[in-house]
This record gives sequence, structure tokens and C-alpha cells, in this order.
Amino acid sequence: MPPDREANARVAELRRRQAAALAGGGPQRQARQHAEGKLSARERVHLLLDPDTFEELDQLVRHRCRDFGMDAQVIDGDGFVTGYGLIHGRLAYVFAQDFTVFGGSLSATNAQKICKIMDLALQNGAPVIGLNDSGGARIQEGVLSLGGYADIFLRNTIASGVIPQISAILGPCAGGAVYSPALTDFIFMVDHTAHMFVTGPDVIKTVTHEDVSKEDLGGAQTHNSRSGVAHFLAPSDQECLAHIRELLRYLPQNNAEDPPQLPSTDPIDRAAPELDTLVPAASNQPYDIKEAIRLTVDDGEFLEVHEHFAQNIVIGLARLDGRSVGIVANQPAVLAGCLDINSSTKAARFVRFCDAFNIPIITFEDVPGFLPGTEQEWGGIIKHGAKLLYAYAEATVPKITVITRKAYGGAYCVMGSKHLRTDLNYAWPSAEIAVMGAEGAVNILSRRDDPAGRPARIDDYNERFATPFVAAENGFIDAVIEPRQTRAKLIRGLRMLENKKVATPRKKHGNIPL
Ligand code: HXC
Repeated sequence: MPPDREANARVAELRRRQAAALAGGGPQRQARQHAEGKLSARERVHLLLDPDTFEELDQLVRHRCRDFGMDAQVIDGDGFVTGYGLIHGRLAYVFAQDFTVFGGSLSATNAQKICKIMDLALQNGAPVIGLNDSGGARIQEGVLSLGGYADIFLRNTIASGVIPQISAILGPCAGGAVYSPALTDFIFMVDHTAHMFVTGPDVIKTVTHEDVSKEDLGGAQTHNSRSGVAHFLAPSDQECLAHIRELLRYLPQNNAEDPPQLPSTDPIDRAAPELDTLVPAASNQPYDIKEAIRLTVDDGEFLEVHEHFAQNIVIGLARLDGRSVGIVANQPAVLAGCLDINSSTKAARFVRFCDAFNIPIITFEDVPGFLPGTEQEWGGIIKHGAKLLYAYAEATVPKITVITRKAYGGAYCVMGSKHLRTDLNYAWPSAEIAVMGAEGAVNILSRRDDPAGRPARIDDYNERFATPFVAAENGFIDAVIEPRQTRAKLIRGLRMLENKKVATPRKKHGNIPL
């Protein structure tokens, strides 16, 4: 064949293969995907990335399975869409499982595609976003598929704390496949279409005789509010992808970078007089700590993480002076802001995320202590509470704590106290910093005294100890500030701490209580 005709034939062959890859599982399966309220893998990738920035890799990869008649069913690309592009002008790597091709199942070659972009992401220091919609291991490939999963898990682990890893669950995600998202930093789930479980309803019925629907077992609501496996709940694919883009605006590309600083028009010394009256006069009255957060941060914008889980603690990302900060705040409106197992693990993981990615941690503290009860003790509140303590103590990013009201007992120590290397500790005048509340203290200290003197002793204890002043006299509080000044104090503090460096002893890694 003459060279020009051969070249034309090659181009035609390339186009034929490209078209086959773009068609995925074909129009019928694509229509079913849409009918279920799901976008196709390619539509998702294009919505996630800035327009016209997607560069696909491995579009022509084919599976190598010859069993179960698979040699007659070969689809270019093998159903996974992988590559890179830009999100808000910054590099990001992405993979998307196409449910229309063998149910989005993972073949050995698909695993190689994912590993390839994960390796590139790690070498080039940019986030990886995985869009999951899959029936799991490709059954026809057996252990080759399992090995592929394990290859991905290894890379998830090596990349942890180096580049942000984000998972969106946009369809099924079952069996051992759940462990790749579980190893990433944040999991998004779409309501009603996303499901995650290690064993499904049928296996559960056989083994434990429990009847549970797919939705109750592993739907987006379940994992956002009950198990805490997922961090974000989205009503649709579109909103999920937009939310991921928003989250990335707060994050650095990798652990060697600082988070981006966006221009802010919110004055750095803006006073918030509403804060002066936020804390009720009666110390057992609830209030919403999210109000304090919104009134303090740039333009009141707060991207809450884990909004529906362990609501007695609030975590999320915001900006001060245009810079990203991680917020951890006890929530007096839920369980009086007590620390329990779920709130401890929720906040601990977030503190470690912020520390890994150079995001300063701002703590708003109003905590009466740890939640009492056998459920908590037998559930291991000792080791789970220790996770939060460990995370705060270990963190070397700038840390600033504001005690708005209660800081009692062990919880005082845990929630970013001065003793855990917190750089700046502020207290509002309403702060009560003591070993325990006045009633409990008087019960113990004056057990044998005349009960008639009890009210006076409680008043006396409150006056002497349930204040910020003893802590301030000892230097554990750097300043007692008027609530309205909080924003200005935090921003000045963060500017002062901009070049913070902490020397830590050499070690392979610590042994956080798990
Ligand atoms: C190969 C698969 C597949 C799989 C689905 N398909 N899962 N092909 N391997 N794992 C194919 C189906 O045969 C079907 O092909 C198409 O994908 C769509 O599947 P449907 O069953 O028609 O879709 P739906 O009714 O929506 O049900 C989706 C589903 C179901 C719930 C995911 O397909 C399912 O239960 N699949 C098996 C899930 C599973 O047990 N996976 C292994 C988990 S263990 P056609 O040609 O008919 O369109 C695992 C271990 C990982 O993953 C371990 C890592 C360490």
C-alpha cells in the first residue's frame, strides 16, 4: 500500500477505535444510565474539569481476558475514562468508571489505567479525583482484578498526606472496592444513586437473617449521617461535581505547597458586634456555634465537612484574610457540645488532614466534657478520644483556639489547649475553664459539709474558677478578648504565624491510637 494511503487507513482505524471508546456500552446502556438519573462517565469528567481541558490517556486500552467469552466482547478503553485536566486553572487527575461497560467493573487493565494516573499525580504533585460507579471486581478476571484493586490501595496509601485524594460515589461501590474511597481524604455520595457496602443485603440476609434495603444499608444518607463513611451528600451528579470543584479551591495541590490565597474584600479588622450577645447568659442554654464561625470568617463562607455526622462537633473549611483555614468547633446546640466517640474521630481525621496539607487550624471551644455512659466507655471512648488528643498534639500547622464558653476537664486539654503546642489561645469573657462544673466540684469537695451552705459554695466556685482569668493568670490563655474582636485577632495571629516552623524528632511514624 502506498505510504499516504496507509497513513489514511491508520487515521481511519484510529478514528474508528476512538468512536468505539466514546460509545462505551452503547446507546441502550447509556439511555439506562440517564434514566436512572446518572450522567455518563465522560459527561461527569467534562463537568468536573474546566471546559476543554481534559486530556484522555489510555483510551485505546483493551482488556486481556479470554475466558467466559470475553474475547468476543472487547471495548476500546475498557470502560474507564482516565486522564488529566484543570480545575479552576490548576492541574488535576481524574478517573471515571463507566457503568455501561461490564457494569464499570475493574479489569486488570483498568487497574493499570488508574495506577498510571495515580503515579503521575504523585510525581507531579496534583490531586486525584475518582468518580466511582462500578459493580466491583470484574468477575471474569478473578484474582487479576483483585490484584488490581490492591495495586490501587497501595497507591492510595502512599499518596495519603502528599496529594489530596477525593472520591465521588455516583453508583454502586461494593465489596473490597469500597476500600479505595475509604483510603482517600473525602468521600462524596449522591442521594439515592450511590451505595457503598462491604457485603450487600442478600449476603446479610443469608448470614445474619437481617432484612435491610440497599438504601438503608449503604445509601448516601446512611453513610453521611450514621456511619460517617461519607463526608458530603449531594442531590445529583451535577451538584456533586460542582461541590468537589469548590472543595478543591481551599486545598493546596500537594503537601509541599501552601493552600491558595484568594483575594477577599472582607475587611481584616471587621468587628462583629453580634458575637457579643451570641453566648446566652445562662451557661446551660444552647446556641449555634456555626453563627460564630460565619460571623468571623471571610464573607461568612463556610464549607462544612461531615455536616450530617456527629453534629456535636462542627468541622469545615473557610478563609481568613483570603487564606484557607480548617475550623473545628464544639456545637453547644447538639448534646451540649460534649465530646463522644464519633465527634472525636470526626475531628481527629480533619485535624490530621489540615496538618498534612498546611492548613492552619482554628478551634472554637465550648465543651462541657466527654459524654458519660456505658455505651461510650464500652465503645472505647478512651482510645477514640485519644485520637483527637493525638491529632492536636501532633499538628504543627499554625493553631489558634478561641474558648467561647466551657472548657472543662480532659476536654479542655484535648481541644487545642496551650499545652498541646497551640500557638495562640484566646478566651471570651464568658469562658469557664475548670476541672468540672461547680455543682460536681462542690459535691466532691464539700461532701461532708453542712448542705445548707451548698448554694453559697457553688456561687463561690463559679466566681473563682468558672472564668477565663485563672487560666489567663497562668499564661494558658494569651488574651481574654471581646467576642466582636475575634476576626481581627485571628487574622493578626495567622499573619504572625505565617513562617512557623516546628522541629520534631526523627521517627518512622507515630502510633496513633486506632
Ligand atoms: C462483570 C459485571 C459486574 C462485575 C455488573 N456487571 N457487575 N460484569 N463483573 N462485577 C455487568 C452485568 O453483568 C451487566 O451486564 C451490567 O454489568 C449491568 O449490571 P446489572 O446487574 O444489569 O445492573 P444493576 O441491575 O444496576 O445492578 C448493579 C449491581 C449488580 C448491583 C452492581 O450488577 C451486581 O450485583 N453486580 C455484581 C456485584 C459484585 O458482586 N461484584 C463483586 C464484588 S466483590 P449486561 O451485559 O447484562 O449489561 C469485589 C471484590 C473487590 O468487588 C475486592 C477488592 C479487594
